[in-house]
Amino acid sequence: MKTVIITGISGVLGSALGRFYLKDGWRVIGVGRKETADGDFYSEYFRNSQKSSEDAQKLLLHNPDLIILNAGQIETEIGEKGEPIIDQFESITNINYTFPAIFCMTANKHELKNNLDIVAIGSIADGSPSSFGPVYHASKIALHYFFSGAGPIIRNSNPKIRMRLYRPGAIKGPLAWAPVNRLNQRGYNLRKKRVDGAPVADKVAIHIARFIKRKALIGTYDEPFSFRLLKLLFAVFPNAYYKLQMLGWKKGSKFS
Ligand SMILES: NC(=O)c1ccc[n+]([C@@H]2O[C@H](COP(=O)([O-])OP(=O)(O)OC[C@H]3O[C@@H](n4cnc5c(N)ncnc54)[C@H](OP(=O)(O)O)[C@@H]3O)[C@@H](O)[C@H]2O)c1
Repeated sequence: MKTVIITGISGVLGSALGRFYLKDGWRVIGVGRKETADGDFYSEYFRNSQKSSEDAQKLLLHNPDLIILNAGQIETEIGEKGEPIIDQFESITNINYTFPAIFCMTANKHELKNNLDIVAIGSIADGSPSSFGPVYHASKIALHYFFSGAGPIIRNSNPKIRMRLYRPGAIKGPLAWAPVNRLNQRGYNLRKKRVDGAPVADKVAIHIARFIKRKALIGTYDEPFSFRLLKLLFAVFPNAYYKLQMLGWKKGSKFS
C-alpha cells in the first residue's frame, strides 16, 4: 500500500484530497497543527507544527511515496488602512513558502527508502502580485520561484526526489472569500462572481490527483485569460504593472 502525507488535512482541499486517496486505496497520513482533526478523510493523523527541519524529519520518518504540502493561509486580518500586519505575515510566509522549501531541502539530505514525489499547492495568483492579498501572493510567488529554481538542483542531487507544484484557482470555501476584506462594493461584486463560479474541492482534488499521476512538473486548474495577461504585463512591463496596481487600489479598495 502506498503512503501519502497531506498537510492542512482539516481544510477544504486537504479533506477532499484525503477522501480521494483513501478511496483510491492509499494509506493517508493527515497532518495538522492542532492536537486532533475529526473526520473520515485520513487513516492516521499527526500533529506537526510545520516550521523547522526537525518537523520535516518527523514527516519523512513515515516513508511517504507522496507528500502534498497543501496547508496554506491567507490574510484574514489587516491594519486600519488595509495594510498587512506583522503577526499574520510571519505565519502566512512560513506555511505558504518557508516550510515547503525547508521540507524539500531536508528531504534532499534524508536517507530515503523509496522515491518521493513532493507536490506543493501554490496558487494561480502567483506571478501577478495584488494589493488585495499582497502577503499571500508574495508567498505563493516565492514558492513557485523556489520549486522552479531549486527543483532541478535537488533532482540532480537526489534522483529519488521529484519536486512539483500545483496551482489551483479559487475553490468554493472560506479561503477564496478572504480577499474581500480590502474590497469596496464594486470589488466585492467582482469577487463574488468569481467565487460563485468556483469549483468545489472534490473536483479540484480529482484534477490534482490526475496531475500527480502524470509527469508534468507544474499543474494548473483552469486559469482565466485575464490572469495570464496580468502575468505577462508584470514580467514584461513591471513599472506599468505597479502603476496599474496603484490604480486598482484606488478603484477597488474600501480604504482609498
Ligand atoms: N481556496 C482557494 O480558493 C484556493 C485558491 C488557490 C490556492 N489555494 C491553496 O490551496 C491550499 C488549501 O486551501 P483551502 O481552501 O483548503 O484552505 P483552508 O480550508 O483554509 O485550509 C487550510 C489548511 O491549512 C492549515 N493551515 C492554515 N494556516 C496554517 C499555518 N500557519 N500552519 C499550519 N497549518 C496551517 C489549516 O489548518 P487549521 O485547521 O489548523 O487552521 C487548514 O487545514 C492552500 O495552500 C491554499 O493557498 C486555495
